[in-house]
Parts: sequence; C-alpha cells; structure tokens
Amino acid sequence: MRPARRLEPLPEYLAARLNRLVAERRAAGRDVISLGVGDPDLPPSRAARAALAAAVQRDDVAHYPTNWGLRPLREAVARFYDVRFGVTLDPDREVLPLLGAKEGLAHLCLAQLDPGDAALVADPGYPVYVGGPVLAGAEPVPLPLRADRGFLPDLDAVPAADRARANLAIVGYPNNPTGAVADDAFFARLAAFGLDADVPICHDNAYSEIAFDGYVAPSFLAAPDAREAGIEILSLSKAFSLPGWRLAFAVGNAAMVANLHRLKAHVDAGVFEGLQRAAVHLLDSDPAERRALADVYARRRTIVVDALRAAGLDVPAPRGGMYVWMPIPTGEPSVVFAARILEQTDVVVSPGAAYGAAGEGFVRLALTVPEPRLREALERLTEALVGP
Ligand SMILES: Cc1ncc(COP(=O)(O)O)c(C=O)c1O
Repeated sequence: MRPARRLEPLPEYLAARLNRLVAERRAAGRDVISLGVGDPDLPPSRAARAALAAAVQRDDVAHYPTNWGLRPLREAVARFYDVRFGVTLDPDREVLPLLGAKEGLAHLCLAQLDPGDAALVADPGYPVYVGGPVLAGAEPVPLPLRADRGFLPDLDAVPAADRARANLAIVGYPNNPTGAVADDAFFARLAAFGLDADVPICHDNAYSEIAFDGYVAPSFLAAPDAREAGIEILSLSKAFSLPGWRLAFAVGNAAMVANLHRLKAHVDAGVFEGLQRAAVHLLDSDPAERRALADVYARRRTIVVDALRAAGLDVPAPRGGMYVWMPIPTGEPSVVFAARILEQTDVVVSPGAAYGAAGEGFVRLALTVPEPRLREALERLTEALVGP
C-alpha cells in the first residue's frame, strides 16, 4: 500500500533501529549490553506508584480528559516552576499538558511551521527536531553544536535568509546527546535572538532534573523576555523515571501554548486523569528524591568518564543529562565505529551522525544500565578502541 509522500524523507527512527538490533542479537544468544537508547532503567518511586494506584481507584478518572487537563495539575506545574526555577506561570494560559515531550515537539512543529518555512534546530539533536519539521513540510536548518563553543549554537552565524524563513527554533540543555549545559547568559541571548529575528523559541528541558556535582539546571523562562520569545517543554519522563507514563508540559508563551492546544484538540484527547492526579503529587514531592535519582546517573557518568580517560580519551565530564558524548579515537565514521564495536563486543552505542551531521566524530553512551553492567561494557569497549 502506498504511504503518504511526507513519510518518504523519514528514516527508520533511531531508537527503533537500535531496539531492533539488540533484539536480533539477543535472539541469536549474544550477551548484549545496550548503551544505545536513553531509556531510564530505574523504576519510579514507590510514592509515585502509590499515587497512581490510588488515582486509578477513583470513579471519576476514566472519562475523556480535556486537552488543557485538570486545573489542579496546571496549578501544580506553576508551583513547581515557582519553587524550582523562580518562574511565575499563569496556570490558565501558560501551561499545557502533553503526552510526553516527544508528542509535544512533533505537534509544535505542525502548529508553527508551514511548507517552505525553516526550523532552526540543534545539530546534533533529538531526532524529532528533524522529523517534526519534515512532517510539517518545513526545512530543518541545523544550528551546529561544536565542542569549541561548549556545544552551544552560534546564533550570530545564522544566515539572514534562514532567520527570515524560520518560524521555530529548538534547542535543549542539559543537552542530548552532547551532555552540555547552558547558563543564564545563553538563555538571555537565545530569547533576544528569538525576539530580534521574530523566530519563536522552544527550549526542550527534558533533562532539567538530571544534573550533577551541585549544578542546578536553569529554566529558559527565567531569562529576561523569554516568555515573549517562546516556550519551554518540561518532561516528567527522566525527572521521575517514568518514561512510559507519558507526561510533559508546554509552558510559557501564551500564544504558542494556545496554538499547540488548538492543534492537539484535533489530534488527541488529553492525558489520562489518573496520571494527572498522580502528577500533582509528583510535582509537589520532596526534591531530595529527584536529587537521589540524579546521583545514580552521576556515579555512572564518573565510571564511564574515568574508564575512557584511562584508555587515553579526552572526554569532558558532563554536568547534566544521561549521556557521555565520546570522541571516536580511530577516525572511523561514527556509523562504522558503532557497527564494529557491536560486532566485536556486543556493546551498543549510538553513532553521532544519527543525531545530525555535526554529530559525526562522536558516539553517544547512555547511562541507563546498572553499574556492574556498565563497568563490563566499558571494559569491552575500551579493549576494542584501538581499531580494526
Ligand atoms: C532531548 C529530548 N527531548 C525529549 C525527549 C522525549 O521525552 P518524553 O519522554 O517526555 O517524550 C527525549 C527523550 O529521550 C529527549 O532526549
């Protein structure tokens, strides 16, 4: 059967491809350790599960939700932003629940972009930053993230023609895949760029709570004029280790939030209200739990960085996120390197080029396996680093 032409430019989704590779090899009896897909392995807290279990027992949670969600949930998001980021949000105009950041990003592209428009997107970046604009018939224009600039985009280098065509820019810190973080000055510059160039900004804050060594990730919305410039997407997937529950929020610019709501009202029917009620508890919960979760990733980060440094690689220690962005020491293209490592060691790593052209020269290691398996993966990997 013929698919729509808009599917033609879409490659097989990276995580789907990696999952397929792992399943095939495991079926063949191989002992595969996957540092490929960034799927949190830790369970959600008992309190989170108890809150969901209690909510499910209610008689009034199984009807159709609304796309705006319950007001107590939007108020809880506003409280979270106030306490955590020092940002005041209007729960009636500036908070929209999403079925995860992935859904929100893809639909944001449909809500913001027309055929012929450009979207300025971080490269390397989360694959939806490219898939979303492509599905909207728009052109994803890369904002290269390079090591010598701390993996922050050079907004002054965006060509005037691209600024003029763009109707959306997407970046996110703590960053997937590079592990870089951004400071208040960068967010102020990003907001100013968006307002000067008349390009709505989306800051993808999927990893805000996964930060190490005392670093606390700021919100884009805390920057001057950020709320006029755009929105932020806050995801509960990583912060509370419940990626399969599917809950995130678009917050900030009321017009962008309203546009996204208008679109989503025609596409989905909102978030299960049992989950919404549980999320109120989560958002109000003790931040010590989130910090304990981040500490697990911090220890894993140290194991990986120490092992790679002992093998002679110059790897910066990320201060946030769930990944180590490893430079390839052999000069092999990242796809070739990742395939060789898999073949020789049964360790899955993600080729940097899969995140965009500027990702070439790197592979991404996800910190989503327990310490003993991670140590074993690093032993296998560092032995195979010397090349074919
Ligand atoms: C940068 C980034 N944004 C968004 C997402 C998707 O998050 P969610 O689970 O909320 O859809 C991910 C997931 O890996 C991600 O890495």
